[in-house]
Amino acid sequence: MHKSLAANDKLILALDGLSKNEAYDLADNIPNLRWVKIGLELFMNSGLEGILEFRKKGLKVFLDLKFHDIPITMSSACYQAARTGAELITVHACAGFNALKEANHAAIKGASELGLAPPRLLAVTVLTSWEEKKFASELMINQPLEQRVEHLAKLALRAGIGGCVCSPLEVQNLRNLCPNSFELVTPGIRSKDSELGDQVRVMTPSKALNAGASRLVVGRPITKANNPADAFISFCRDMEMS
Ligand code: C5P
Repeated sequence: MHKSLAANDKLILALDGLSKNEAYDLADNIPNLRWVKIGLELFMNSGLEGILEFRKKGLKVFLDLKFHDIPITMSSACYQAARTGAELITVHACAGFNALKEANHAAIKGASELGLAPPRLLAVTVLTSWEEKKFASELMINQPLEQRVEHLAKLALRAGIGGCVCSPLEVQNLRNLCPNSFELVTPGIRSKDSELGDQVRVMTPSKALNAGASRLVVGRPITKANNPADAFISFCRDMEMS
């Protein structure tokens, strides 16, 4: 299904580190932009107005607030999030089966009551800032990260969640375990000449897509480029080589 999407429908621009006005201006200046990712920082700055503003511009919104709470609270938050028209919404897989299942049902209900397309929830498995040693020493979780990622992705899949967010290095393994309809959305994407920033384990756009990623999230290599519109096109070109 995703092979047939145009590159710009698979490239999500992460608007971290920008004020709301900078984010709106940037979106206006990238002609082929289809998707924006609103994370915690921009959401705290622009609130619901930000989501509506991007939607008014004809853009699709990935609302990356990583909900994690007891089932009733998480599902109520997803119900409300779906009513904003956001089409991708993140939750933490470690909230557990019931929370994931109820959140998914609530999101579908919230959108359908307003005649909106049902959003796709994406489960976060293990944040890329964790490493195995810290997982054991700080959280007392003695488990290989890869095994935990697999387990949480399968849990999300069983609960009816539409996909997960994962590092590009986890994509191939998860693609083999999960059906193609389960989206694998990956940050940590860099072209050969981009700066790494704080990303450590990165992959180029075409390699990530070839490994099985459904959509890619790219932030600073585009938002901080001298010419963001050109940088966006160059990422799309690289994706078309997959
Ligand atoms: O690094 P870049 O600006 O392309 O980040 C895009 C997205 O990748 C961010 O919004 C963040 O959610 C995610 N990220 C990550 N791990 C990091 C840094 C960023 O998953 N170390």
